[in-house]
Amino acid sequence: MARKIAFINYKGGVGKTSLLVNIAASLAKMGHRVLICDFDTQSNASIWLLKLDRWNKINSAGRGSIYSVFNPGEERVKDILIKDVVRTKTGEAPLPSLDLIPTTFNLVDLENEYSGDPAQPHYVVFRDQLAEVEADYDFILFDCPPNILRASQCGIFSANEIYVPSNPDALSLIGFTLLVEKLSKFHQLSASFRTSRQGVPARVQGIIFNSIKTGVDIDVPRMRMQLRLNQFRSAKRAAPAAKLFDQQVRDAMVVRRAVTLGLPVNLVKAAAEGTEEETVVDDYRRVAAELVRHGDRVNE
Ligand SMILES: Nc1ncnc2c1ncn2[C@@H]1O[C@H](COP(=O)(O)OP(=O)(O)OP(=O)(O)O)[C@@H](O)[C@H]1O
Ligand SMILES: [Mg+2]
Repeated sequence: MARKIAFINYKGGVGKTSLLVNIAASLAKMGHRVLICDFDTQSNASIWLLKLDRWNKINSAGRGSIYSVFNPGEERVKDILIKDVVRTKTGEAPLPSLDLIPTTFNLVDLENEYSGDPAQPHYVVFRDQLAEVEADYDFILFDCPPNILRASQCGIFSANEIYVPSNPDALSLIGFTLLVEKLSKFHQLSASFRTSRQGVPARVQGIIFNSIKTGVDIDVPRMRMQLRLNQFRSAKRAAPAAKLFDQQVRDAMVVRRAVTLGLPVNLVKAAAEGTEEETVVDDYRRVAAELVRHGDRVNE
């Protein structure tokens, strides 16, 4: 059964999308079947992986992206899903089994203009359509914006696990705290729509530190984050096995450059050539491996 995982923090710009895309690529390289669902109307993950030309076509068509699945009679998740999303100039797929449910700018309309059936909220519509493709994957990763508005709610409602990308600073800690508050409110609101098949509502399973600068001591921010996590665990507001990941991702230029190239970092040539950047590829791989190992503990 697929592990369904949301990446979210109430703090913006901490590296949620970069972590998600690069961890997804690492998992795919290890041989896992991975689906990325982009729930951020900024469409960062979609533009990154599709590159601007392909993404522009979907954006201007107004079809083929996630917003369509909320409108009855339009498309379903299985119709808009893009298989082997990463392509070279010659059309080859260097990362087989990395698929994408793309987003375009019209996803913002889900927040304002959408008036669905109150008996079947947007997150129920999405969960039921996702169920049609779930068996094809080992991991389904939801990239969420830094809030729990409607788009994020879809990812969180379908997810079984939540990971919180963070920077070693006070604002990430505040973002994490706010996230836990908002999560419990949303879980209460959506409780009556859960099925027994879904299992328990997704809890925070891990914090992942990102963009760590060389030579900067982060013992204090790590300690503060660990303390906050311990408090939430004791109050049963985070999973019993929730952990601050041992592995973390350093700050490296190639992470920014990879977006321009439309590739995950592990496919950027320089990153494979033993330059300084090789280490950040290793970071993502090690975080991905820790995520895989944590799978044994999520149901504790
Ligand atoms: N390890 C890293 N090293 C260097 N730059 C990074 C790293 N991780 C992320 N960045 C850069 O930091 C910026 C923010 O990252 P990203 O878009 O992944 O954050 P986010 O949390 O998804 O943001 P948002 O809240 O807007 O969705 C981007 O320019 C990205 O390229
Ligand atoms: Mg993002």
